[in-house]
Amino acid sequence: MPPTDDPPTTDRRPPTTGHVTLVGAGPGDPGLITVAGLEALRNADVVLHDALAPRALLREAPAGAEVRNVGKRAGAHAATQDEIEALMLERARAGKRVVRLKGGDPFVFGRGSEEMRACREAGVPCTVVPGVTSAIGAFAYAGIPVTHRGLSSAFMVINARSMNDGVTSWRAAAEVDTLVLLMGAENLAECAGRLVAEGRAPETPAASVQWGTRPDQRVVTGTLADIADRVAEAGLSAPLVTVVGPVAELAGELAWFDPAPLAGRQIAVTRSRAQSSELVDLLEAEGAFVTETPTIELVSRAGSADLCEAVAAPADWWAFSSANGVHVAMETLTAAGLDSRALAGRRLAAVGEATAAALAGYGLRPDFVPE
Ligand SMILES: C[S@@+](CC[C@H](N)C(=O)[O-])C[C@H]1O[C@@H](n2cnc3c(N)ncnc32)[C@H](O)[C@@H]1O
Repeated sequence: MPPTDDPPTTDRRPPTTGHVTLVGAGPGDPGLITVAGLEALRNADVVLHDALAPRALLREAPAGAEVRNVGKRAGAHAATQDEIEALMLERARAGKRVVRLKGGDPFVFGRGSEEMRACREAGVPCTVVPGVTSAIGAFAYAGIPVTHRGLSSAFMVINARSMNDGVTSWRAAAEVDTLVLLMGAENLAECAGRLVAEGRAPETPAASVQWGTRPDQRVVTGTLADIADRVAEAGLSAPLVTVVGPVAELAGELAWFDPAPLAGRQIAVTRSRAQSSELVDLLEAEGAFVTETPTIELVSRAGSADLCEAVAAPADWWAFSSANGVHVAMETLTAAGLDSRALAGRRLAAVGEATAAALAGYGLRPDFVPE
């Protein structure tokens, strides 16, 4: 075969036997999941997701899939790591396609490698779909690149809680051009003090981003000396990423992401689930966090004996009070062995524009729509 520029596409056909796919969901904006990640999610039998995985992505799982929050947020563990691994293996051994959906990238402080090892030891096939890590993505949405020619040619990502783990070199952390701190919302002042003690200049620019890439993203800038105070004054808390280095100053010049008008608002949508998706999409596009709490359930009576009798009975007017009524009436015509010719000579009224649009879908124009 002649060489081509593009390597062959990875085989992403859904596995036919029990399998675990570790999927990086990205830092918060649901649009940042990869094509491969979305495909795995749409073919999952079981989705075990972390607290930081964007909620909107869960709607991508097939209707019958088991979707379970196994997330760990400080102080409120939904499940222990052992329990998560046991559940993941149990479902995969039962022949299920399991997606482990994780915030950011599964292999960046995500325990993805531990879960892959558990699969290996259990003989369960496991693959990984990398994701956009918050260590890069959250700053990108704040206009901060982790490298920039002439300012920074290296970056390091560190666990802020590794202060005394005997492994992490805080000296190296103090020396690198760009340092990114994850999991540092609670001990930012301590980390800053340690970096200064290791030789980093207190006036080094710094920036913290809370809920990066989401519509409620918040950004605070300062220096190594005052970033912890500024974060506390602004009331920022976890999940928070902090960057230390000259690139932090570029936020002032390159910031581009505006919080949406409904940023941070929690909105419950009470329409029936079948009818809510358009409204949910519109609200989420404006930054709202939407919980679907259907208070009504639509049950169609199309084709019932009394409705069949009604559509066949003589009438001068048919008045439709909802788009649902239109669909049920038309389905009932079919069930009664009729079609739209049965409407010949009748006049049609629609309660509003949406109902008129539903009639138009069947090629029917209402004679009356109130203003
Ligand atoms: C257990 S680590 C998981 C990191 C994840 N695997 C990744 O690649 O982004 C959790 C930490 O990631 C950071 N984080 C994750 N998502 C974030 C976001 N949208 N905004 C700010 N920080 C975030 C916070 O520092 C949080 O404490």
